[in-house]
Formats: sequence, C-alpha cells, structure tokens
Amino acid sequence: MIGIYGVNSVAKLAIDILRSTTSLGEVTLIDDDQKKSGEVFYQKKVGYSLNAWKTQFASNSEAFIFLAIGEKHLARRHEVFHSIPIARFMNIIDPRSFIAEDASLGTGNLFARFSSIGHETKIGHNCIIWTAAIIEHNTEIGDSCYISPNVTISGNCRLGRCTLVGSGAVLLPGVTVGNHCIVGAGAVVTKSVPDNTVVKGNPAKMIQHNSHSHE
Ligand SMILES: CC(C)(COP(=O)(O)OP(=O)(O)OC[C@H]1O[C@@H](n2cnc3c(N)ncnc32)[C@H](O)[C@@H]1OP(=O)(O)O)[C@@H](O)C(=O)NCCC(=O)NCCS
Repeated sequence: MIGIYGVNSVAKLAIDILRSTTSLGEVTLIDDDQKKSGEVFYQKKVGYSLNAWKTQFASNSEAFIFLAIGEKHLARRHEVFHSIPIARFMNIIDPRSFIAEDASLGTGNLFARFSSIGHETKIGHNCIIWTAAIIEHNTEIGDSCYISPNVTISGNCRLGRCTLVGSGAVLLPGVTVGNHCIVGAGAVVTKSVPDNTVVKGNPAKMIQHNSHSHE
C-alpha cells in the first residue's frame, strides 16, 4: 500500500518511477486542496483529509508514504514529514540514477532519472533530487531540500534543510548554503550563503531574505 500526499508534477514523477520498478498496487492520493478532491489523476481518485490519510498509513506497517509537496512549500514539507513516523517513509529511486555504494541516504527521498550521488555523500530525509542533478563526493544535503533538474553540487559542499536549488545552478567545491535558502535557476554559487537567503546570478549574489522560509 502506497500513500502519496500532494497531487502535482512531483507525484507524477513518483508514480512513473513506481510504475517502472514495482506494481503500483493500492495507491492512495490525497491533496489538501479541497478543489482537487474527487479529481481523477493517473486513474486514481484524489481524496481529501490529511488526518485520515495519516492514520491509515502511519499505523500500517505494510504501507509506505511519499510526500509530493513541491518546491514552493519546503517548510510545510518538513513539518508534515516530522509529523509521521519515519519508518513509514521509503526512498523512491529511479533505476537509471547512480548512487555510490558508500553514499548514505535518509528516507522519504526521491531520486529521478540520471541523478547522481557521489562517494561518501550524505543525503538527509525527505529530499527531491530531480532529473540529471549531480551531487558530487563528500557532500551533505540536509532534510527536505529540493534539488532541481541539471543542478551540479560539487564535492565537499553543505546544504542546510528546506533549501531549493533552482534548475541548472552550480555550487562550486566546498560551498555551504544554509537552511531555508533559494538558489536561483542558473546561479553559480562561489561563496557560502547564510540561512534564509535568496541568491541568483553568476557569481551568485544575495537578492533578498527568503520570506517563505517559515510558512
Ligand atoms: C531567483 C528567483 C528565486 C527569484 O524569484 P523572484 O524574487 O520571484 O524574482 P522575479 O521573478 O520577481 O525577478 C526579479 C528579477 O530577477 C531576475 N531573475 C529572476 N530569476 C533569475 C535567475 N534565476 N537568474 C538571474 N536573474 C533572475 C528577473 O529577470 C528580474 O529582473 P528585473 O528586475 O531586471 O526585471 C527565481 O526566479 C528562481 O530562479 N527560482 C528557481 C526556480 C526553479 O528553478 N525551480 C525549480 C523548477 S523544477
């Protein structure tokens, strides 16, 4: 039994990977946008009631959960993850991704096609690593991060929790990006970035405080 919370492009990606690796079985979809309730998504009717869903999946040792809450709501993603027993989450891994044998993975993560996790790299819990994102060796990614398509995170980098790295951005070796940051699409991050900061450009410059960091 598989429960996916959030009906969006991340859910589609998760379902595509599940379809290619296992039988979909009993998938339940829930979204807290009441307007989506009753809609049909991938031949499944969308339900509405986070609490009922949590009870159904959190207490069932045969069930696992995936959060499809996307890049605009990473603080919420983090909060929901921590309100459910960790044992209910599993990683969804596209068979075309590469994960080094000595990398360490938390749980509740999604690794899309052609993503690559380098040697001795540590990925926290509840992250989404999109298509062709490369995370090199000896790097640490905190919980509930969103790594967009074609990102390159070089070796020896650190990323805090609930941070979004936009499409095609590059983090140079050894850089630290804090908690609740946004790295703009295409940015080249050459220096460390403090918590709650939005950066963009090449070389990346701070443009603003991340006002969504505590939503
Ligand atoms: C950097 C970012 C966070 C800024 O968002 P914002 O504050 O809403 O910015 P706006 O869209 O209002 O644009 C403000 C200015 O920055 C520019 N800008 C926006 N994003 C930029 C980027 N990634 N790089 C360089 N300049 C950018 C805009 O052209 C605009 O310039 P102007 O003032 O000269 O007209 C956002 O544009 C971004 O890149 N987010 C990442 C999106 C992404 O990759 N998501 C993952 C999808 S899978």
